[in-house]
Amino acid sequence: MPVTVSDEQLQSQFTYIDAIASMVGGKQLRAYTHTFGCQQNEADTERIRGMLRQMGYEMTNDVNEADFILFNTCAVREHAEDRAFGNIGSLTHLKKRRPEVIIALCGCMAQQEKNVEKIKKSYPQVSLLFGTHALWRFPSLLYRVLSGEKRVFDIGGEDDIAEGLPVLRAAGPKAWLSIMYGCNNFCTYCIVPYVRGRERSRRPEEIEKELRELVEAGYKEITLLGQNVNSYGKDLGLDLDFAGLLRRLNAVPGDFWLRFMTSHPKDASPRLFDAMAACDKVAKQLHLPFQSGSDEILRRMNRRYTAADYRALIADARAKMPDITLSSDIIVGFPGETEADFEQTLKLVHDVQFDLLFTFLYSPRTGTPAASYEENATPQEKQNRFERLLKAQDEIVARRQAAYQGKTLRLLIDGTAKGPDYPFTARTEGNLLVCVRGEGITIGSFIQATIEKTSLRCLFAQKK
Ligand code: 5AD
Ligand code: SF4
Repeated sequence: MPVTVSDEQLQSQFTYIDAIASMVGGKQLRAYTHTFGCQQNEADTERIRGMLRQMGYEMTNDVNEADFILFNTCAVREHAEDRAFGNIGSLTHLKKRRPEVIIALCGCMAQQEKNVEKIKKSYPQVSLLFGTHALWRFPSLLYRVLSGEKRVFDIGGEDDIAEGLPVLRAAGPKAWLSIMYGCNNFCTYCIVPYVRGRERSRRPEEIEKELRELVEAGYKEITLLGQNVNSYGKDLGLDLDFAGLLRRLNAVPGDFWLRFMTSHPKDASPRLFDAMAACDKVAKQLHLPFQSGSDEILRRMNRRYTAADYRALIADARAKMPDITLSSDIIVGFPGETEADFEQTLKLVHDVQFDLLFTFLYSPRTGTPAASYEENATPQEKQNRFERLLKAQDEIVARRQAAYQGKTLRLLIDGTAKGPDYPFTARTEGNLLVCVRGEGITIGSFIQATIEKTSLRCLFAQKK
């Protein structure tokens, strides 16, 4: 059973929020946040912004005018870590000029010893650091900094769940809804289980309550979040799995789309696709990372499915939802990947015809098993494979996008576009990006529109 942070513990955080509010009251302090990495991190930042707002901070997009600066970091690839260090490094002058500015770092990097040591030694401008497990304690940690403690580091904490934290969501009709935290899978390349802990599911009634609040507040696209949503509920001891949760949430009244991510092929099942097909509010869209098309590489990644299993899942999903859009994650250049292994990946990409792919060059992560696996391909070979994969996928996407020409689709208007010809952005049910024109369009509304032209990254539509 997952442990929930007690009411008493949470209440004490609200006391700190109030205490900070009276400290900052009338001072017009501003907070700036920057999020690296995945949607889970974005959802976490929204909680921190919620707490900051309740403390009396105004949000700003200009780091130079901020009194509190927070980086919510990602550790999944080296590149993300380098960027976070680069961003903090670039604030050295600002901190010299305005020593009263508080620079804080949280998220997955803050949960890793090697990074914490590096921050301690080489980044004295960081005065507050807390890991993913300490997020709910943020008010008490910030209070200590505001009370004069030079550096506050909190990387402890249990795999517990904190309900009822305030949240400040990004503008627009879309919202994240975390349904579970952590991961139990230990894919051999992945740092996530080490920095986010074991899987723990929120109780269904808490999730449903939050969904109802979101729908009442006017949100139109709600994405259920978890590292591996298909194993939702396994730790709760209830007779409810992810497919059951989808059916329960689909019954919440209102006009909205439900999405979810991420799914793991080993836990995705015909039951899930039956539920998706049966639920009118569940968008017919699936992000199902396969990582590699080679069974040998999948085995060494500890993914616990084969390429044939994956193909069978896709066939089942398409049989039940013929128009479903599909996306996936792929790692290129995993240790031991041969040209023949890579060709299996290319073949799977050709056979499935995905609408969108997220392709990554393998990045060794200290502490994961694969970090000690022997590399065989040269960086040039890996880069070459990466580029071939991108090229193959671009050709597929160009064909798939072109097939939308002339079709009329239901769209959710979600923002404004840069170009003058098509002033709004929207998403299809399949989560494809559309630029839209027409009379009387408002952000947050569903409309019917006809696709007038297509490009690799965008569809262009006229409102009906
Ligand atoms: N190197 C490269 N890509 C990685 N991912 C996770 N760990 C690594 C790594 N060490 C990718 C996987 C995952 C996505 C979120 O990031 O494809 O699905
Ligand atoms: Fe990482 Fe695998 Fe868990 Fe995804 S399922 S977070 S890739 S360990």
